[in-house]
Formats: sequence, structure tokens, C-alpha cells
Amino acid sequence: MNATSRSFTLVLLLASIAPVVRAGSSNSLMDISADGKLLACSNRDSGTVTVVDLATREAKFEIPVGWHPEGVSFLGDSHRLAVAVYGDDRIRFLDGATGKILGDVAVFDEPYGLVSSPDGTRLWATLEYPGRVVEIDPESKTIVREETVGRFLRGIALSPDGRLLVTEYQTGIVKLIDAETLQVVEEWIGTPQDNLARQIVAHPTRPKAYLPHQRSLTTVAHGSGSIFPYVSVIDVDEPESAADRPRRKRVQMDSFRGVYVVANPWEVALNSDGTKLYVVFSGTDDMFVANVLEDNYRELEYASLLRTGSNPRAVRVAPDDRTFYVYNALDFTVDVFDAQSEKKTAEIRVTEWPGEEDVLLGKKLFYSARPPMSRLRWIACSSCHPDGDADGRTWQQPEGLRNTQPLFGLKFTHPIHWSADRDEVQDFEHTIRSPLMRGRGLVDGPINESLGEPNAGLSPELDALAAYTNSHTDFKLSPYAKGGLSEAAKRGKKLFHSEEVGCARCHSGPYLTDQKMHDVGTGADDPTEKLGPDYDTPTLLGIYRSAPYLHHGKAETLEEVLTKYNRADRHGRTSHLSSEQIADLVEYLKALPYEQPERPED
Ligand code: HEC
Ligand code: HEC
Repeated sequence: MNATSRSFTLVLLLASIAPVVRAGSSNSLMDISADGKLLACSNRDSGTVTVVDLATREAKFEIPVGWHPEGVSFLGDSHRLAVAVYGDDRIRFLDGATGKILGDVAVFDEPYGLVSSPDGTRLWATLEYPGRVVEIDPESKTIVREETVGRFLRGIALSPDGRLLVTEYQTGIVKLIDAETLQVVEEWIGTPQDNLARQIVAHPTRPKAYLPHQRSLTTVAHGSGSIFPYVSVIDVDEPESAADRPRRKRVQMDSFRGVYVVANPWEVALNSDGTKLYVVFSGTDDMFVANVLEDNYRELEYASLLRTGSNPRAVRVAPDDRTFYVYNALDFTVDVFDAQSEKKTAEIRVTEWPGEEDVLLGKKLFYSARPPMSRLRWIACSSCHPDGDADGRTWQQPEGLRNTQPLFGLKFTHPIHWSADRDEVQDFEHTIRSPLMRGRGLVDGPINESLGEPNAGLSPELDALAAYTNSHTDFKLSPYAKGGLSEAAKRGKKLFHSEEVGCARCHSGPYLTDQKMHDVGTGADDPTEKLGPDYDTPTLLGIYRSAPYLHHGKAETLEEVLTKYNRADRHGRTSHLSSEQIADLVEYLKALPYEQPERPED
């Protein structure tokens, strides 16, 4: 079919069906059944899904589903739903009417976003790692098709003409996918700084899609120009009919309303005829309502600014458009707003914080871009360490290039930073007060040098921030070792622990680090480096998904760490190894961790 006739078919199709945004047509942490009777939200910290009766506004069921549930979606117009249990690598099916679990589908790794076909007979999921789309038959609970279509996929939406749009989390790249074959039809690339694109929605009638994301300007280590909030608008029309205009634009949210600054957009939602767009900001605890314009240049117009609860991560509009709902991830509530007056009319408690109170306080601070964390509301710890993970970036810091590290295992792998220039998380008071975050800070008065007298005990808030940051103690096991170590990984393990290759001399103990500084010959790779050539031996647990590598982030693959960047065998002895042996070592590294590491005494 040529482009013109396809557009024509699309118009016919759109004219014949009611142009509405349907339940389950874009990924979200919250969904509303097509009849408007039930709301479901996934509670990442509690490991549960809560089903709310929207007539009484009461939580009917809170269903334990597993470790770190993310996307939820009702199936078609039914009261059955699916949830992506990110940490357990499975998708679970629930009955919203009875609160029962109906069954499971195991997937390779990290299911995040879910969308359902309008009739509920198909479900599509994104697997963040390694970047696949999976088509599932909810009836037989089997995988029908599975394709790798990018890297780190999160957002997924079903367009009105039945195609899929997905987003790459760490690049914001959007791909259009044929729902029958799961092949990529087209892609939209933004800027190299686009980052943390978790979600996308398709407009019901205009050939547009909207994705919230941030930009991480890694060359700027001060808060006035490093992290920016955006909603990007994708033109999903045929390229021919859009030849006269850019097919991807971004609307800068921090200048949307003149001087008012917002941070860390998480999700967007459209009302049923697509005239309003709602966007929540998880860093500043607020949201914008925008008018969607019939204007290919301006796209969105500011309508209002509303306060939310703590760390809003989801927004959804009821099918009758009279109400919209905001999920406050760190208040454990869903706020009910009247769409006409835009006033909050009710608050529904959906779950409880499962941990210690100080960790909750620390988590709120970690996610906050508001004072006292940042005076200018631009940047939060979570802007670079979302959910304890890395942002996939290497930042130009005053001391040189610094690759963001994931925080998993941090508590047991001190000292802190590649250059071990910190010995307790309380030293991050220096980061809060630095030009990067420009916060007032959590301590009244002066603080001690990072490696001097302790900063612990100076402020309950700072101790709470440290408690949260250190709370990332559990690792996701590597998907490459689900059936145990492969033969290649077993050979690699032998090499790793052999005297002649010598990796385990420094990468030792349950976290594969001796927690000491060494010169492995990488200090001269970066001309801006001020602190080398010694670096803190990093843990190797979870490195299968944390590229790029080394403190300067110049090694793009694990193989490059062992070859291109291992000059003169300073970093273990690898020059004598055959390419098969290097590949075996890499297989072993990719399999880490294949079991939870033994925890030292706290
Ligand atoms: C602009 C992005 C950015 C922001 C904002 C940010 N970090 Fe980081 N973080 C980094 C980078 C880059 C590194 C690696 C730096 C280094 O090792 O010198 C890092 C390293 C760390 C580490 C060390 C991990 C390890 O294994 O040694 C911790 C802990 C940490 N950050 C916590 C925080 C906290 C707490 C905040 C908020 C007060 C914060 N970060 C704000 C980018 C950021
Ligand atoms: C002399 C101590 C030492 C030895 C021996 C050693 N390492 Fe390392 N390793 C380090 C240090 C220090 C770094 C950080 C260097 C940097 O960032 O520039 C590192 C970094 C790494 C990284 C990058 C991790 C990341 O998150 O970016 C990998 C992978 C790695 N080592 C694997 C190995 C393997 C495999 C061997 C054996 C061939 C080995 N190392 C031998 C100390 C050592």
C-alpha cells in the first residue's frame, strides 16, 4: 500500500471508530477500566497492585505481586488486568473483580511497560533490558512473538491505527513498530542528551504522540544548565505529508509558564478527545495541564499548574473525562481531581510504606528538586540516579570525566566515588551545596571535609538521605545466568580467578571488590583528569547492563575494558589471551551476579 492510500485508510478507520483514548493504550503505573469502574495502580515499594472501586473511592484489594511492579494495564474492556513485575521478570494476570492472581508469564528480563489491544486478546510489553518488545496471548498466557528493537525500552503506546510506539529509556529515541511482525518501521531520534523517557501516549485523532523526558547536559556540571524537563511531540504521520516540518519537536517544560521551574517529568495523559494533556513532575511535586493545539508548530499551550502529593509518577483521565487521577508514589495515595474545576476532591490511600521511617524521609529528599535540596528546583539526586540505577551518562566533573555508577551494593562497597574522595553518604551534603544542585543543604552551619571528621550525626535529614542511598542492597540477578553459568561463563570464571590473569587479586570477596585504590593504567585516557591515576576497585555485580565502563566511561563494552583500555597488562593480564578466552571472560562478567552476594554484617 502506498503512503497516500494508507493515510486515507487511516482517516476512514478513525472516522468509523469513536476517537477516544482507551484504557490500556499507553503504558502507565496506573490504569482505569474502560467502563470507568475500577482503577489499578502498581506500588513499587510495597510490591503490590491496588484495585480501587471508583464509585466508593475505596481500595478493594491490595494484591502482593512481587518485587518492584511497574506498568499495569486492564485487558480490553474487561476487569482483568496485567502487571509487569520488573524485579521478578514476569508478567502477572489479575482479576480486578475478585483480587485473585490468574497466572503468570515469565519473560527474559525487566518487563516495564504494558499495553493491551482494544479487544483484550493481545498484550504487548517492553523489556527494559535488553530492549525487547514481547507479544503475549493473555488467554493461554504464552509469548507469541518477541523481538529486540532497541536498547533499554520503557514506554509503549498503541496508536489508533494499531501500531506500536516505544521509547528508549536512556536516549528518548522513539520507534514505530508493526504490531503483527514487531519489526521497526521508523524511528525518531532527538538529541544525544535526551534521557529517562519512561512513557509515551498516542493522540486519538491527530497523528501525534507525546513523551515526557529529561535532557542531561553532561558537559555542564552546574545546576543552571545540566538537567531540563521536556515533553517531546512526535509526528507519526507519513513522512511525505509532514515534509514541510520537523517530525520531532520538544516543548521545554521549565519555561512553559515563564519563570516557574518544574523537574523530572514522569508521565503524561490525554483526555478522551485529546484536547488536554496532563503532565506530572516527580521532582517538584506538581503538574501542568496543557491545551493541545491544532498547530504543528506550537503544539501545547499552558493552561494551569496544580500541586500534587509527594513524587507523582502517574496520571490518568477517567473515560468520561470528568475526573483525573494522580498517583503520589511517596505519599502512597491517589489524588482525585475534578477535571472542570481542577480542584482536588478526594484522596485515596492505596498502600503503606513497607520500610523504616528514616529511609522514607531519605527517599523523599533523594527524589526532591525543591529546597533545601536545590534552591532553583532544577535537579534532584534522582535526576541522575533514578531508582538507584545509573543514568547511562558520563559527566564532565571538575575532577575529570565521571561515569555515573549504579547504587546497588553501595553500602557494602565503600569508599565512595571512583576516586574514593568520600567515605560516607553524608558527605553528599557537599553535592547538595555544590554549584550542581545549589541547595541550602540539610545541615545548619558548616560541614566537615569529606574525608575529615564524620558528617554523620549532624542532621537527621542528612542521615536519612544516607540511609535511603545505602538501602539499595539487593541486586537483580543477571538474566544470563538463569539456568546457572553457561559453559563459556564457567571457563571465564576459571580465567578470572586464575593466578596468571589475576582479576580476583582486586575484584575479590562477595562484591568482587577489595575496596582499595589501584592504578590500572587508565589515568591518562582523559586529558581533563585531575585526580588519577588511582581509582577505587568497583563492584562487578550488575555490569552486564551498566555500559559504558571505567571511571571515564570511554570503554563501550566489557571487551574493550579488557583489550583496548588494558594497556601493557596493567589491568589484569589479558594480552596473552585468545579472542575466545576474552569472550569467555566477558560471558562470566555478563553472568554477574548469578546469586545474591553474601552480606557482611551491617
Ligand atoms: C548530575 C548528575 C548527578 C546528580 C544530580 C547526583 N549524582 Fe551521584 N553520581 C553522579 C556521578 C557522575 C557519579 C560518579 C562520580 C564519581 O565517582 O566521582 C555519582 C556517584 C554517586 C555515588 C557513588 C557511588 C559509588 O559506588 O561510589 C553516590 C553514593 C551518589 N552519587 C549519590 C548521590 C546523591 C545522594 C545525590 C544527591 C544529593 C547525587 N548523587 C546527585 C551523578 C550525579
Ligand atoms: C590491580 C587491581 C585490579 C585488577 C588486577 C583488575 N581490576 Fe578491574 N578494575 C580495577 C579498578 C581500579 C577499576 C576502575 C578503573 C577505572 O575506572 O579507570 C577496575 C574496573 C574494572 C571494570 C569496569 C567496571 C565498571 O563498572 O566500569 C571491569 C569490567 C573490570 N575491572 C574487570 C576486570 C577483569 C575482568 C580483570 C581481570 C582481567 C580485572 N578487572 C583486573 C582494579 C583491578
